[in-house]
Amino acid sequence: DQFDPHVHIILTSRSPGPVPVSPRANHIIWVFTVTHYKQYPPNTSKVYSYFECREKKTDPSKSHKVKYDKTVFYGLQYILHKYLKGKVVTPEKIQEAKNVYREHFQDDVFNEKGWTYILEKYKGHLPIEIKAVPEGSVIPRGNVLFTVESTDPECYWLTNWVETILVQIWYPITVATNSREQKKILAKYLLETSGSLERLEYKLHDFGYRGVSSQETAGIGASAHLVNFKGTDTVAGIGVIKKFYGTKDPVPGFSLPAAEHSTITAWGKDHEKDAFEHIVKQFPNVPVSVVSDSYDIYNACEKIWGEDLRSLIETRSADAPLVVRPDSGNPLDTVLKVLEILGKKFIPTENSKGYKVLPPYIRVIQGDGVDINTLQEIVEGMKEHKWSIENISFGSGGALLQKLTRDLLNCSFKCSYVVTNGLGVNVFKDPVADPNKRSKKGRLSLHRTQSGDFVTLEEGKGDLEEYGADLLHTVFQNGKIVKTYTFDQVRDNAKLKESELQELLE
Ligand SMILES: *[C@@H]1O[C@H](CO)[C@@H](O)[C@H](O)[C@H]1NC(C)=O
Ligand SMILES: *[C@@H]1O[C@H](CO)[C@@H](O)[C@H](O)[C@H]1NC(C)=O
Ligand SMILES: *[C@@H]1O[C@H](CO)[C@@H](O)[C@H](O)[C@H]1NC(C)=O
Repeated sequence: DQFDPHVHIILTSRSPGPVPVSPRANHIIWVFTVTHYKQYPPNTSKVYSYFECREKKTDPSKSHKVKYDKTVFYGLQYILHKYLKGKVVTPEKIQEAKNVYREHFQDDVFNEKGWTYILEKYKGHLPIEIKAVPEGSVIPRGNVLFTVESTDPECYWLTNWVETILVQIWYPITVATNSREQKKILAKYLLETSGSLERLEYKLHDFGYRGVSSQETAGIGASAHLVNFKGTDTVAGIGVIKKFYGTKDPVPGFSLPAAEHSTITAWGKDHEKDAFEHIVKQFPNVPVSVVSDSYDIYNACEKIWGEDLRSLIETRSADAPLVVRPDSGNPLDTVLKVLEILGKKFIPTENSKGYKVLPPYIRVIQGDGVDINTLQEIVEGMKEHKWSIENISFGSGGALLQKLTRDLLNCSFKCSYVVTNGLGVNVFKDPVADPNKRSKKGRLSLHRTQSGDFVTLEEGKGDLEEYGADLLHTVFQNGKIVKTYTFDQVRDNAKLKESELQELLE
């Protein structure tokens, strides 16, 4: 992607390392598409670009176990609110950018004239229009998700100036998509081993706060997981949702008191039982999760929970169970062995589907080594051993929020249309070395076919009436956000569809 036709000839010969930014500087002047305004054909008056998660055209085989053939569109509203709306250009920022770029490029390449024009004509608001699918939409790969175009002929260069910040949407899209795929796995096995989807949205808890690169990543990533689930320890996500989306509920995510190793080991190795007892008694009325592998998880399950504290645990209610948390070892083996040991001490019942369920006062959460592949292995292994997954849940951290890249869903932003000398031209790239990287041509629109599939129409064909309404809606126009979605709408758009559940069970 670094070597697109109109990209980075100058940048790639010098390191585009981080630019020092004053605390006052807003990021808009600091992206790396600094020199492009000089590179477009003369008399260009509009640039139109689009974003998609490219679809693999060749070799549909199984290089990935999970195909991610649909993506959840989420996070544009955050970027628009935080970085693009309102008066984002000021004289101070222009001056500062000019100074930094002069040093950075050792030349006066910064488009001072263009930015001053925006400052004067639009009072620092960006003359661009962005159209997007509704937030939370689940759209097959290879379709347009949003388009960006300049609305002032003088500002044709602005479209791809905002590329860098807009393409960072790959992250919330990828977190939400990967989390939703995990929800599908959990839904399938929950239905198969219990016949119900009860509490599905509490089955995958976000443990990722400490494993991410920054507070901002934590907030965005955690909010993206909450599109699909309701359990989180990454509270930064709650702030993002309340501030940038809004929900009818006071909070969009929940948690429970949980022990960590320090609160156990601080009691000393010979006092693990005392630690457990103390912690459980501190929280008599809510579920309490107790990490039980500080020394020997199997001894803890068999002797401490299963014998020493057994009567204490048995008095807890279904609303306030003990949640035993293993935290080491091979995830599948550990889960199976913990269930087997607990099952000898706390006799399981058999549910309507013929799977074993621990008594209501005790549950298990596996939060170590959980990613989409191990999750699949664990629930499959539990099913084989006749355990219902209704009374186990999972925690996932680094794999949920950080072990993802833009390549997973091939998120990309490309120019597809320009106006030069008053004439519209459909443009595209089609690199000889990789047909997957061919981009779409012309102005784009997204439609539903009669059979319910999504289709992207190229070259402005969507203007023809026969295709019905365009699913892309204007969300941003000349500095203003003109359409917003609540988090409840996002969740509703992203929820698992009946047809998907059917497909899972086939
Ligand atoms: C740009 O537009 C001007 C004014 O219409 C025209 O004279 C000139 O030839 C155009 N330049 C190119 C390269 O087309
Ligand atoms: C997506 O990215 C991966 C990793 O870079 C690459 O192997 C694959 O070919 C890309 N697929 C498409 C459709 O571009
Ligand atoms: C198991 O989990 C289900 C769903 O969370 C809950 O309703 C039920 O009370 C639990 N059953 C037992 C026996 O713990």
